[in-house]
Amino acid sequence: MMKAMLGVLITVALTLGTANAASLGAVYTEGGMVQGENYAVGLLRYMDVFKGIPFAATPGRFEKPVPHPGWDGVLKTTDYRKRCMQMNLLQNGIMGSEDCLYLNIWIPQGTTVSTNLPVMVFIYGGAFLLGGAEGANFLNNYLYSGQEIADRGNVIVVTLNYRLGTLGFLSSGDSGIPGNYGLWDQHAGIAWVSRNIKGFGGDPNSITIFGESAGAVSVNFQIISPVNKGLIRRAISQSGVALCPWAVNRNPRAHAEEIAKKVGCPTDSSMVSCLKMTDPKALTLAGNVHLSSSATDPIVHNLYLSPVIDGDFIPDDPGNLFHNAAEIDYIAGVNDMDGHIFATLDIPSINNALVSTPVTDVRNLVNALTQDKGPDAGSATFQEYTVGWGDEPSDKDIKKTVVDIETDYIFLVPTQAALYLHADLATTGRTYSYLFSESSRIPLFPIWTGADHADDLQYVFGKPFTTPLGYFPRHRDVSKYLISYWTNFARTGDPNNGESSVPVSWPQFTSTGHQYLEINSSMNKDSVKQMLRTRFVYYWTSVYAGYPTIKKS
Ligand SMILES: *[C@@H]1O[C@H](CO)[C@@H](O)[C@H](O)[C@H]1NC(C)=O
Repeated sequence: MMKAMLGVLITVALTLGTANAASLGAVYTEGGMVQGENYAVGLLRYMDVFKGIPFAATPGRFEKPVPHPGWDGVLKTTDYRKRCMQMNLLQNGIMGSEDCLYLNIWIPQGTTVSTNLPVMVFIYGGAFLLGGAEGANFLNNYLYSGQEIADRGNVIVVTLNYRLGTLGFLSSGDSGIPGNYGLWDQHAGIAWVSRNIKGFGGDPNSITIFGESAGAVSVNFQIISPVNKGLIRRAISQSGVALCPWAVNRNPRAHAEEIAKKVGCPTDSSMVSCLKMTDPKALTLAGNVHLSSSATDPIVHNLYLSPVIDGDFIPDDPGNLFHNAAEIDYIAGVNDMDGHIFATLDIPSINNALVSTPVTDVRNLVNALTQDKGPDAGSATFQEYTVGWGDEPSDKDIKKTVVDIETDYIFLVPTQAALYLHADLATTGRTYSYLFSESSRIPLFPIWTGADHADDLQYVFGKPFTTPLGYFPRHRDVSKYLISYWTNFARTGDPNNGESSVPVSWPQFTSTGHQYLEINSSMNKDSVKQMLRTRFVYYWTSVYAGYPTIKKS
């Protein structure tokens, strides 16, 4: 009886729901009409989704993106488009297309059509070599689906594609092929959102960009580049800033010549015209990364198809451009073991409790990472990280030190440097710092493994809610916390204020207090901390930086 009544009630509710479904229907954009999909995501709660809206024309090879010519009639936008052309993971084949400048939009709806919602634009990571606006796909559940963030935070989510690898970032170091095409694509997408999002119920004056890894570096470049003046209100960098050692290719000509040789082009004055005529698949494959890294040849130094100081998108060294972000609210943070996956590639024994990691590996790694500054700087760095070891360091101490070194060098220290710069130069912009520390869920890793690189993404995108069986309740807690802080921030510029309650108030980062929030599933007032690894930040940014550069890699 109860069951039958419940069934009737649910049927009535669903019918009512459908009858009242608030939906945008077809939307008019600058290119023409687009028609997405609308479906219920809860009682009296709906989602309009548009997949594969073109935000620029198919880009010319090594050319900036240009506006899409537009279309007649209504464009059906219900499927993700191809990724931008890239290598597969084995680096022996190609996927994606040069026709790839599309974006996807999620708009949450209640019983009436939403208006003036904050807008969050996501920029994916993948070392500037791989990735796509929809993210990895597990059982038709795409990592970067904006649905959970849009629904739980009541914001519009946009994810966009940008060119990668050789086609996105090759630079001849001069006006022939200036580079930064991927960054121009992202900018074109953000500008499209600014011009068109009102028609989707968004507030063009409340655009937050967020990204992870190379996407986080991109976010930082977008807010310090003069080309975006006035377009972006707020930004979130998850594990990456423009000051990271891998964020800027400082020797583009040499790398372009390597690629030219691989595809059979000369390296003289005809290199540029030859590269422009070369098959895009061959060009893409030529950007492959030497993956057999080791302590003496760390993977981070093999990532060179990155942004360049082109005098245009990036007019100067990134450290000199933060005044352009003075009015932008900025959250930047890292995972407590962001360097773990890189350490694993360089020194695999760190994950094997049965194989001890020799101290010479640590020494070799430090020397390789610091090679630009020569052996004295290498010794000083080794000393800095091992001073607490005592006479007989345990194998675990050695292994954790390897992870600390890679985390600090690749992510943590540059992120702190960016936070200081942003806080110092900000006028109206607020600055927030976090450390994400929810332990890795990968069973093969040692018990001491904290949050590895990219671990944060599944929680930011609400996967513990989308696929509840794959997670424990604590994972839904940390997911809720992240979505609450992120979407409050997008709405008000303050992660504590908005439509979602938060477990603990997150103070602003100041250059005197160095406040930060440790984010994980068990948060309380002790989650507010200060001075994140200040000793090592000081070491790298002052002592180490003071050594003269003897070699330019
Ligand atoms: C979670 O954060 C709290 C507060 O900062 C900290 O005490 C605790 O160790 C963290 N938990 C993990 C697993 O890192």
